Amino acid sequence: MEYRKYLKNPILEDETDQMKGLPIPPIQKPYPKDAKLIDLVVPENIKLGNISLIKAINNRESHRNYLKSPLTIEELSFLLWTTQGVKKLDRGGLVTLRTVPSGGAMHPYETYLIINRVNEIPPGLYRYLAIEHKLLTLNTNEPEFPSKIVEVCNRQAFIGTAAVVFIWSCRPYRTEWRYGDDSLKDILIGVGHICQNLYLACSAIDAGTCAIVAYNQKELDDLINIDGEYEIALYLAIIGKI
Ligand SMILES: Cc1cc2nc3c(=O)[nH]c(=O)nc-3n(C[C@H](O)[C@H](O)[C@H](O)COP(=O)(O)O)c2cc1C
Repeated sequence: MEYRKYLKNPILEDETDQMKGLPIPPIQKPYPKDAKLIDLVVPENIKLGNISLIKAINNRESHRNYLKSPLTIEELSFLLWTTQGVKKLDRGGLVTLRTVPSGGAMHPYETYLIINRVNEIPPGLYRYLAIEHKLLTLNTNEPEFPSKIVEVCNRQAFIGTAAVVFIWSCRPYRTEWRYGDDSLKDILIGVGHICQNLYLACSAIDAGTCAIVAYNQKELDDLINIDGEYEIALYLAIIGKI
C-alpha cells in the first residue's frame, strides 16, 4: 500500500528553520485587537469532573444520540480546558504547556466550535483562544451551520443533533519550524491526544462525544473559513448531553 510510507519516520536531510535560527512562529492564530471575546469559566472555578479516572476510562465510549438539553458554559469551559487549556507560558511566553502533550510543545492546533445549544451563547461559529481561555466570535449570522456540517461530514445525520461540534485545525508551520519534513506524525498523533482528553472529560460530566474523521477536506476548510494550506482542518468531535 502506497500510503504506508507516511507511517515511517523520514530521514531528515535539510536543516529546520529552528536550526537556521529563524524566529519561532506565534503560538496562537492572531485575531483583531478589538474583537468581542466571550468569557468562559476560569479553570480554578470549574467544579466539574470529580469522578475517578478509572470510572471515566471505563465509561468512555462514542455517543451519537444526545438529549435536547444544552451544555452549560461551565461544561463547555471544562471541555475546552481539558483539550487545549494552557497551564503555563514557557520560554518567555513563546511556548505553551497545556493539558495535553504535543511534540516539542509546539501545539500547532486551533479549536473551532460550531455551537448549537450552549446556555447563554448564541449559536454560531467560534474559536477558542487557549491563552486567554475565552471564545472569539466568528459568525453568528449563519443559521445553517448544523445542516452544513452534516453535508461536509459525508451526510452523517447524527452530527446535526450535537450541542457543540469541535473542529481541530492545524497550522503546520508551528511544528515544521522545529521538525521540518518530520512533522507529520507529531501533528497527527498530537490531535489524537486532544480528542482522547475530550472523551474522558465528557465521560466525567454525563456528556457524550464521538470522534469524526469522515469529512470533505475542502468543504470543511471553507466552512470554518481557513485556507487549507497554511491552516488545515484535521479532526472533529461532536458533543451532547446523554
Ligand atoms: C480517528 C477516528 C475517526 C473516527 N471517525 C468517525 C466518523 O467519521 N464517524 C463515526 O460515526 N465515528 C467515527 N469514529 C468513532 C469510532 O467509530 C468508534 O471509536 C469505534 O466504533 C469504537 O467505538 P467506541 O469509541 O464506542 O469504543 C472515529 C474514531 C476515531 C478514533
